Amino acid sequence: MRRYHVTTFGCQMNAHDSERIRGMLEELGLGEVAELEQADVMVFNTCTIREKAESRLAAHLGLAKTLKDADPGRLLAVGGCFAEVQRERLFEQFPQVDFAFGPGSIAALGEWLAAERNGGASGSFGTGGERRFTAELPARRERAFQAWVQISMGCNSVCSYCIVPTVRGREMSRAPVEILAEIKGLAADGVREITLLGQNVNSYGRDLPADRRLDFAELLRACDQVEGIERIRFTSPHPKDFRSDVIAAMVECDSVCEHAHLPAQSGSSRILKAMRRTYDRERFLALAADMRAAIPDLAITTDLIVGFPGETDEDFAQTLSLVEQAGFDGAYTFVYSPRYETEAASLSGQVPEEVKRERIERLIELVQATASEQNERRVGGVEQVLVEGKSRTDDALLRGRTRRNTTVNFSGDAAPGELVDVRIEATTSTTLRGIAVSP
Ligand code: SAH
Ligand code: SF4
Ligand code: F3S
Repeated sequence: MRRYHVTTFGCQMNAHDSERIRGMLEELGLGEVAELEQADVMVFNTCTIREKAESRLAAHLGLAKTLKDADPGRLLAVGGCFAEVQRERLFEQFPQVDFAFGPGSIAALGEWLAAERNGGASGSFGTGGERRFTAELPARRERAFQAWVQISMGCNSVCSYCIVPTVRGREMSRAPVEILAEIKGLAADGVREITLLGQNVNSYGRDLPADRRLDFAELLRACDQVEGIERIRFTSPHPKDFRSDVIAAMVECDSVCEHAHLPAQSGSSRILKAMRRTYDRERFLALAADMRAAIPDLAITTDLIVGFPGETDEDFAQTLSLVEQAGFDGAYTFVYSPRYETEAASLSGQVPEEVKRERIERLIELVQATASEQNERRVGGVEQVLVEGKSRTDDALLRGRTRRNTTVNFSGDAAPGELVDVRIEATTSTTLRGIAVSP
């Protein structure tokens, strides 16, 4: 049996694509191995969102070359967003790559592997014709009780720093009947928690024909009706499209979790304008306040960028104060990284590296303090936890996540996939600690 290994470099969408790649390779009769070194077929599912993702990839490509030099029978396939933007130069720059494919053409990898066995050529790019949703491929999921469900692909926004629209194309919504059929199938397989995926989930449906259209709020309500699905999450919504109908659906649907990942990017209205986010600081804060008022116990997490071109000390101070005012439960913090052919890459006023470094350190510190504060408020309460397995730090404890998406380490007796009530006794900035008080 040929052995394969898939390395994931990017976001949840990218990780979900990796699950489809695994499922497809298994169906072709390949078996997964834990280490790249053991694989006959090495697959890199790449990302190009920031420079860092690419330097990590470069290291892996170097390792793959060494492995191939030692054993020329090995195959290296490179998929994902980096492959897509570097189409023209990929094979020239990295002759160790045998096959490449974009995020919209995963099935082409399977076709190529089949052809390659019959003497097919190396060095080709699989476009696979039209962009396709990966749902037609089987998925090999990490956990039996959790699943990602793709609801759209691409992005119609024009955030000036971001490469995603170039790579993943115009937004295309998946038909509601297909989404709901997939979720019903997942529920029948024992899945209890789903995460709806899209670059901008709340613009979902706008491109669908009127007679077959649901908007995002309606989609949430329809998903909530599926028997067996206890938790529904979604990522990411864009603040500009987060309307009151979605807030109402979050309030009314029992299975929709009390968590919103709401990327702010900056706290300075001037910078938000240059980023083309189409909301300002006040509107973001008003939205966060409306959401908190409507949804008791809501956790809000965010993405923040420091060092966008032209960002002054005053702009950065506005980001710090946004974190305090919004009281985020957590944040992914990024140093601005100029990307090919994006508008922001050619702006004047690029911020020096050492300033970016200093700003991100201060921001991380504040985010941790704010998150700790939010966690401390949970102490003494009881949270519903979906058990994921053993604690990563202490074998005697179990680990799971609350509806607010916080990790809890707790003592008790439960199997992965079970829902238990846990009394919270202590916290760190990122996790809670507790004792199971039910089933
Ligand atoms: N579609 C999602 C996010 C996709 S990328 C959304 O809009 O919410 C995930 C995060 O990466 C973004 O929210 C942003 O914070 C960050 N990011 C994107 N491009 C970046 C760049 N050029 N430099 C630094 N961070 C970036
Ligand atoms: Fe990028 Fe903006 Fe689209 Fe998110 S909404 S993927 S940040 S262009
Ligand atoms: Fe995701 Fe990276 Fe592509 S963040 S959409 S894998 S560029």
